[in-house]
Amino acid sequence: MKEVIYEGLKFEPYISKQNIANRVAELGKEIVRDCAGKTPLFVCVLNGAFPFASDLFRAVESIDAEITFIRLKSYEGTSSAGVVKELIGLNESIEGRTVIVVEDIVDTGNTIYRLIEDLKKQNPAEIKIATLLFKPEALVKPVTPDYIGFSIPKKFIIGYGLDLNEKARNLNDIYILKEDK
Ligand code: HPA
Ligand code: MG
Repeated sequence: MKEVIYEGLKFEPYISKQNIANRVAELGKEIVRDCAGKTPLFVCVLNGAFPFASDLFRAVESIDAEITFIRLKSYEGTSSAGVVKELIGLNESIEGRTVIVVEDIVDTGNTIYRLIEDLKKQNPAEIKIATLLFKPEALVKPVTPDYIGFSIPKKFIIGYGLDLNEKARNLNDIYILKEDK
């Protein structure tokens, strides 16, 4: 693994695909253990979570599970909150179900907080959050992920679904922005 450059910015290797795979397998085991006798619905938040959701979903093959995909459409709201994100694409009922929201990253928590509030209105039995990455120092909302791949510092990262202006999602490993020294 060597450094990569996007938009003139240098990124260095941070989490290898092997480490990701090992951690995803462990998270899969936790979910299998917690969801015995249930049929969880994985809700993959596009675009960033799709590689993680794909791997995590296949790491729970010993239980019945379903998967669906949603998107959060951003638009400039008139509220003081500024950008509002509207949930689109959830066609199935989640009433009474165990829902596992699958995210690539929980950063400020704003996005997932709003999403969870929306999903709660549909009366699921429970909502769990599975995130590959978590930046605890960046969190501004009361959000506690149930399944965390890696807790990381408040730095910009790319790869394995995470983008810089839509690029770099297809990198197999995760890279971190290199500080100028
Ligand atoms: N990288 C890419 N996308 C993001 C990040 C990040 O560090 N935080 C929130 N979205
Ligand atoms: Mg992004």
